[in-house]
Amino acid sequence: MAAGRGAGPVGIGIIGAGVISQRYLENLTAFPDLDVRFIADIELSRAQDRAHSFGIPRAGTVADLLADDQVEIVANLTSPAVHADVDRQIIAGGKHIWSEKPLALDRASGREVLESAQAAGLRVACAPDTFLGAGLQTARRLIASGRIGDPQSALLLFQTPGPDLWHPSPEFLFARGGGPLFDMGPYYLTALVQNLGPVASVMATGTRARPVRVIGSGPNEGTEFAVDVPTNVHALITFESGASAVAVLSFDSYLRRAGGIDVMGTLGTIQTPNPNTFTGPSTIFTADTPDGEVVPPSGFEYGRGCGILDLARSIRAGVREQAPAELAFHVLDIMDATAESIAAGNVVRVLSTVEPSPVLPDAWNPAARTL
Ligand SMILES: NC(=O)c1ccc[n+]([C@@H]2O[C@H](COP(=O)([O-])OP(=O)(O)OC[C@H]3O[C@@H](n4cnc5c(N)ncnc54)[C@H](O)[C@@H]3O)[C@@H](O)[C@H]2O)c1
Repeated sequence: MAAGRGAGPVGIGIIGAGVISQRYLENLTAFPDLDVRFIADIELSRAQDRAHSFGIPRAGTVADLLADDQVEIVANLTSPAVHADVDRQIIAGGKHIWSEKPLALDRASGREVLESAQAAGLRVACAPDTFLGAGLQTARRLIASGRIGDPQSALLLFQTPGPDLWHPSPEFLFARGGGPLFDMGPYYLTALVQNLGPVASVMATGTRARPVRVIGSGPNEGTEFAVDVPTNVHALITFESGASAVAVLSFDSYLRRAGGIDVMGTLGTIQTPNPNTFTGPSTIFTADTPDGEVVPPSGFEYGRGCGILDLARSIRAGVREQAPAELAFHVLDIMDATAESIAAGNVVRVLSTVEPSPVLPDAWNPAARTL
């Protein structure tokens, strides 16, 4: 069973002290319901630097982190290729998991993580947690209130020149488990599933503009690396409800577009904020408001790490967390089906399903002390 004190702030360990750990730690160390105890990385100096910057009591190896009885939840912030392997170690260590996205490289390894956690009585929750932000929660409440009628279809366009321009070690973003599908797909697909329900099938095409890219920043700037995955994906998605969506996810466009999702309903259209952000207004277009009515986000503003906070409170309360493994697995299933459709050129059914997580109350506040 999971170690831990069972009352008071929940002990957090972090594995992976890379780029994104900075954002997490800014928030996790500020939430009074969490107590960040330990940070580990195979590059020990990275873990030590982060521990020093954020006043974390311990830094060290993964084995030492897992032996720490004060750690109840481990945030796996490593790169996608090792997510499942690190998760296996965390489960063997008896801790609950928060995983960065994607949950795993494919359905088979994702399912294995879920099943072994379940057998051990441990929880797995998974990024993204952006859909818990005031922006997407407000959009969700507007859709749930009936403002656009029944959702019928959706459109999303994510286009950039690619993260090789700014990430100091971007190779993993162009390897299996990366590309715009597995890197950005989790944000957009999670928001789609939350608003239109589970997906039934996908038909997709994919292209790759360049087989080799160049690291654009950091100590290895100028180094070439191979691109192993499609860097431009077009998908036609059919939902169990019969609704449909068109998705463009691209690292091959010098025109940058990282907008929200347009959801077309029987009475109106809503444009949500960018699902890779925690805030931003929604705009509603109806027969009465053809130029759009801008609705500001309502609720508390918070950032990356609020999914871990929700997991911690949910463990203590004995309720389902907002970003459960079943949701991440369904999104992984959609991405895997999309990759299969690109390779095979036909429609691929998505066999898993999930119940969207309930809308959060307006007063949900990760910065409050509740434990
Ligand atoms: N960089 C971003 O803006 C961003 C944003 C959102 C989510 N993410 C996700 O966060 C994860 C990490 O991304 P990143 O950009 O921080 O990557 P990164 O390469 O900067 O950091 C990953 C860290 O994990 C460590 N690591 C790798 N294998 C390990 C192992 N077996 N045991 C212990 N440590 C290990 C590495 O040494 C490195 O410090 C990815 O899943 C990515 O999709 C990144």
